[in-house]
Amino acid sequence: MTFNIALIKGDGIGPEIMNETVRVLYAVGEKFGHSFEIKEVLAGGAAIEAAGCNLPEITMEVCKNSDAVLLGAVGGSKWDHLQGSKRPEMALLTLRKELGLFANIRPAVMFEALKDTCPLKSEIVEGGLDMVIVRELTGGIYFGKRETSQTYACDCMEYWEYEIARIAEKAFQIAMKRNKKLTSIDKANVLDTSRLWRKTVDKISKKYPEVQVSHMYVDNAAMQLVINPKQFDVILTENMFGDILSDEASMITGSIGMLPSASLGDKQFGMYEPIHGSAPDIAGKNIANPIASILSAAMMFRHTFSMEEEARAIEKAVESILNQGYRTLDITNGKDYIGTMEITDKIIEML
Ligand code: IPM
Ligand code: MG
Repeated sequence: MTFNIALIKGDGIGPEIMNETVRVLYAVGEKFGHSFEIKEVLAGGAAIEAAGCNLPEITMEVCKNSDAVLLGAVGGSKWDHLQGSKRPEMALLTLRKELGLFANIRPAVMFEALKDTCPLKSEIVEGGLDMVIVRELTGGIYFGKRETSQTYACDCMEYWEYEIARIAEKAFQIAMKRNKKLTSIDKANVLDTSRLWRKTVDKISKKYPEVQVSHMYVDNAAMQLVINPKQFDVILTENMFGDILSDEASMITGSIGMLPSASLGDKQFGMYEPIHGSAPDIAGKNIANPIASILSAAMMFRHTFSMEEEARAIEKAVESILNQGYRTLDITNGKDYIGTMEITDKIIEML
């Protein structure tokens, strides 16, 4: 089969990790007999430099006409002087919104081989960690009303019931395929949006009586993640809480350089990106960890192409080379490491 993929390499380490991800893609294609039509388009800082705006029309058009989008990371201090809608990150938010990608799936799994890089005491993570954060992606404070003057600024957190209901449905469906345990995280002791969130999640939960649901305040959740992370299986939360908690969850599994994500809507179409940022400080040095974006490509096979075998092949190859002791700088724990390209060579050999 031939798949149409829009490729947005982005800024900082984006281009180098995406080059490696594309190599893995072709290796999977060769092994399983698929071909890819990859169209590279620009967004974020790279687009500002080349086209004078963070999201050229052609980028949106190519993305809309693709089966899936693979994205590296956008942003960097180089564009810090830009305000509001001109910022590189705004391209990412517009893509998510315009493509209808309201569900961000962020699995946080600890690889057995990396348990020494986990910053928590070993007894806390004994037996491993395996949770998935389901983050609402096109609502909340990221997309609410805004206002700025010299001495005042305001960002509104807004939610409609339907926005909460559809992400809750996704989370319950995921919970049904896992351990039927869901924690919904909010700030219902303070925020009206959170009270609507809680009420809506409870309503949806009636359709899934087998799923054990609990509600937790976000400040407590941030604490529970470091004192007892194994209590979590599926975490359901709104946009900004999910942004923050997924960074935290990623570090307790070993490194933010390891975690992939899928942004999904109602259909098979999806955008796949690592959860980490563009890390301009290490860009161009061949030391970035490409595993998060390679695992994001695995998620693309699973969610958009419904090809579980291909997805598992990538995940197994990554796991095997980690078991063999190959590491990038971020996961060495003081031992030897190899480069971005070299670790990808190992993954491809394993495939
Ligand atoms: C993420 C990132 C983005 C977000 C930024 C780059 C806009 O942190 O995907 O987690 O906040 O959603
Ligand atoms: Mg983030």
